[in-house]
Amino acid sequence: MSKNVNIDWNNLGFGYTKTDFRYVSMWKDGAWDEGKLTEDNMISISESSTAIHYGQQCFEGLKAYTTSTGDVQLFRPDENAMRMNRSCRRVLMPEIPVEKFVDACIQVVKANLDYVPPYGTGATLYLRPYVIGVGHNLGVKPAPEFMFGVFCVPVGAYFKGGMAPVNFTIADMDRAAPYGTGAAKVGGNYAGSMMPHQEAVNKGFADCIYLDPMTHTKIEEVGAANFFGITKDNKFITPKSPSILPSITKYSLMYLAENYLKMAVEERDCEIDKIDEFTEAGACGTAAVITPIGGIDYKDKLHVFFSETEVGPVTKKLYDTLVGIQFGDVEAPEGWIVKVK
Ligand SMILES: Cc1ncc(COP(=O)(O)O)c(C=O)c1O
Repeated sequence: MSKNVNIDWNNLGFGYTKTDFRYVSMWKDGAWDEGKLTEDNMISISESSTAIHYGQQCFEGLKAYTTSTGDVQLFRPDENAMRMNRSCRRVLMPEIPVEKFVDACIQVVKANLDYVPPYGTGATLYLRPYVIGVGHNLGVKPAPEFMFGVFCVPVGAYFKGGMAPVNFTIADMDRAAPYGTGAAKVGGNYAGSMMPHQEAVNKGFADCIYLDPMTHTKIEEVGAANFFGITKDNKFITPKSPSILPSITKYSLMYLAENYLKMAVEERDCEIDKIDEFTEAGACGTAAVITPIGGIDYKDKLHVFFSETEVGPVTKKLYDTLVGIQFGDVEAPEGWIVKVK
């Protein structure tokens, strides 16, 4: 039965609102239980949980989209499941079977259909799966029990008045160590990113760009998004490094650039001293979608790519193709879309 949730879909931001149901499954004695939906949005765990003290946890982020025909669909949830399992392996937590992860996401969307924003608003239902180490424990070692949860929140279109470029500055600090956890979606990476983010915002930038932690000469990440640049000869270039979080949006764009836009694609070093090789640049991710980079502040100079106010033509085409697939207006490559309704 549908109820009136009274949400102003056109003015949603990216903030928490309690929806009706979330999914929880517990791991104990070597196995996950069946899992269930619950209305309770509060968690009660041991004060000694490894998630609290040692950051033994990880999370994911993906979205459900309403199409023009009223279907509700997920974008590549199996990729999020596989990345979550890589994160779990990195911090010694039990993996979630891919089918269990995708089923949990579907259950949560189905149970909260009233909160899925309608087509045309640009708004989406953001899903936040997570695994945390729980149970009584004191030493630095894996938890005796784990919890897998998925909740959802309606979030607004990233760009309210249409896509617009923003400026970034280079961070002095790192978000990840050379052989650390940068490629895993674990909370510690984000705790370490709050200060450089705040400093960038204080200086008037949207966020900061992280250079490679070993040499500080190559672009790695753009805040909580991946970087791409378009060269003068129309190549899609994106950095390759073991300390970057492998963005599902980025790998999707690489596929779309190559197969839909017939561009050459390269994953390789992007040296900060050579950024004038790019005529357009962008940040990409589930939350950022594609955010055009107007300019990068580096060594007290703002290096502008295409324009500080206009979106470049290749960035625009990539955006239209990606978002078109996510909202069901452009035919998706096989297996990318999972229908919920
Ligand atoms: C650090 C970081 N980089 C990149 C991304 C983009 O990844 P995705 O496209 O899978 O959302 C995210 C968001 O998940 C992130 O937190």
